[in-house]
Amino acid sequence: MRDDFVSRIRVTRNYLDRPLAAEHLDKLIRAARWTGSSKNNQAWSLIVIDDREQIARLASAGSFTGPFATAAAVLVPVKGSQGNDFDIGRMAQSIIVTAELLGIGACPITLHNKDRARDVLGLPKGQEAHWCVSLGYPDVAAEEAAREERRRSGFIPSGRKPADEFVHHQTW
Ligand SMILES: Cc1cc2nc3c(=O)[nH]c(=O)nc-3n(C[C@H](O)[C@H](O)[C@H](O)COP(=O)(O)O)c2cc1C
Repeated sequence: MRDDFVSRIRVTRNYLDRPLAAEHLDKLIRAARWTGSSKNNQAWSLIVIDDREQIARLASAGSFTGPFATAAAVLVPVKGSQGNDFDIGRMAQSIIVTAELLGIGACPITLHNKDRARDVLGLPKGQEAHWCVSLGYPDVAAEEAAREERRRSGFIPSGRKPADEFVHHQTW
């Protein structure tokens, strides 16, 4: 594997009309399940959504859920009452990196309306879902077109800060 594998991952928001292979979905779930958590407390769970109608219902819980329109699946890390956001973020990144290895595109999605997410997902008290990951085999042409459009509009900046603005050594 190239040593810049992780730094080359970009989000994918446009997907082909094709379900995820069962074997691929299993690998994504396994990667999520084996993510390390604080004190290995595993105060979390994962909701796998591959039903189009349920994905559409969950879309109403976020403000930028466009990728759900073509997503083959959405994986929702759920934080338990003893859980923390760092662990949930790690789980999401495990899913995203594994997806990339399998040729699956992924995009983190924010569920801005937590109450609506709770309703749609049927979460019991103490369980919380604030982010999820949309997934699907990339529609490369649609993705390129959308990326070009974003570049033109500047709505979401592309690229990253230069290293000398980003990194500090020893202290701030
Ligand atoms: C915590 C988090 C929440 C995000 N929420 C959304 C979202 O709701 N909708 C969306 O389309 N993209 C969302 N994104 C994707 C970001 O816009 C994306 O990571 C960023 O623009 C960098 O994209 P790139 O890796 O293609 O350069 C989210 C990313 C993160 C890390």
